Amino acid sequence: MSMFAAPKGVREYLPPVSAQFLAVREALSAPARNAGYGYVELPVFEDLGLFVRGVGESTDVVSKEMYAFEDRGGRQIALRPEGTAGVVRSVIEHSLDRGPLPVKLWYAGPFFRAERPQHGRYRQLQQVGVEAIGSEDPALDAEVVALADEAFRSLGLERYTLHLTSLGCSACRPAYREALQRFLNGLDLDEPTRLRAALNPLRVLDDKRESVQRQLVDAPLMPQYWCADCVEHYTATRSFLAGLGVAWTEAPRMVRGLDYYTRTTFEFAHDLLGAQSGIGGGGRYDGLMQSLGGQELSGIGFGLGTDRTLLALQAEGKAEPAARCDVFLVPVGEPARAFCSRLAGRLRASAIRTDMAFGGRALKGAMKAADRSGARLAVIVGDQELDSGEVVVKDLLGGEQRSVAVDLLVEDLQRQLQGGIR
Ligand code: HAM
Repeated sequence: MSMFAAPKGVREYLPPVSAQFLAVREALSAPARNAGYGYVELPVFEDLGLFVRGVGESTDVVSKEMYAFEDRGGRQIALRPEGTAGVVRSVIEHSLDRGPLPVKLWYAGPFFRAERPQHGRYRQLQQVGVEAIGSEDPALDAEVVALADEAFRSLGLERYTLHLTSLGCSACRPAYREALQRFLNGLDLDEPTRLRAALNPLRVLDDKRESVQRQLVDAPLMPQYWCADCVEHYTATRSFLAGLGVAWTEAPRMVRGLDYYTRTTFEFAHDLLGAQSGIGGGGRYDGLMQSLGGQELSGIGFGLGTDRTLLALQAEGKAEPAARCDVFLVPVGEPARAFCSRLAGRLRASAIRTDMAFGGRALKGAMKAADRSGARLAVIVGDQELDSGEVVVKDLLGGEQRSVAVDLLVEDLQRQLQGGIR
């Protein structure tokens, strides 16, 4: 028994699943890298105030789930619960918004939310995200949404839906908020819910209780209150998105867990993940730059859940456990071990993924290690082979084995692996 355990709610990735995790992260970021987004590596802890101001004091993420502490210098610090506030902070701090616009950035890494852990809900969660700051062009809204869709599709995911809406702007949202509040005031709600209605009425639409949902059937919805500019912007966004071949469902009741959203807002939900179905989400944020001390520039971005995307792939039966090497070297005897050590270096230099048996194991144990490694081919080397200048190559799937001249080994292995299935 280990004396320590990883903190509660933290997801660790170990071989062989960790290889899938890396592949998912790679695939989620590939469309953005292909569309001119530059990589940013940002701190995982920031000024607590950044998130209070940026994400919103009344959100669960900030009011209930933040890992906040005082550092040794007496500064109030928080582990980042999300990526957008930090990116915007960095763009302002380094004046990227004074250069060519929009600024297009992507990031990947861990975020921290002290949520109640359950399947697909972790306290250290992984995201791949993008932010595009400094343009209101609806073509940019369509680009960002399409990049996320392309990312999921490139992995082979099929059982997901894109939910899309516009949350309005500073011109039309206040009137909607007021109308919703008026409506909520006339309902039979308990005290905490009334309080929420006063503070953040949109959040009440997201109440999971049947007794509440029943009363919300006729609630006023944002689309009824869109101003002319918002209608125009959203109409153009949808037309660009259709042009990109992306399918979506209108989601006029969408509620996001972060306060900065305006206009185009979206979520990707997967059918097979149960309660934690959100595999990604994002939207436009008109006021965020300014509220963090920057210019009045709008931005749009997304965060895709790397953990949940991997769970979704597994649920669709599309997460292939990859072998960690292609060739496994089995030396029998001392001289063979020295030979294999050099051979491993040569094969790796030829981009053949190679491992070997260590510790002078007997043939039987070493062959077992070869099988377990998942390698397609084993190369068996003994004194006899060294004398003859030939080694034995064994196909670990079919079981056939052949002698191959050491001089021709690299080409021979490459040829065999090309027809590979494993
Ligand atoms: P979010 O919707 O809070 O948005 O998170 C994005 C994604 O992160 C979710 O769809 C989900 O897949 C994943 N996620 C969130 N919380 C957890 C958790 N506890 N466990 C596992 N996965 C989780 C944002 O964070 C925004 N910053 C996205 C954005 C960027 N909006 C504009 N730009």
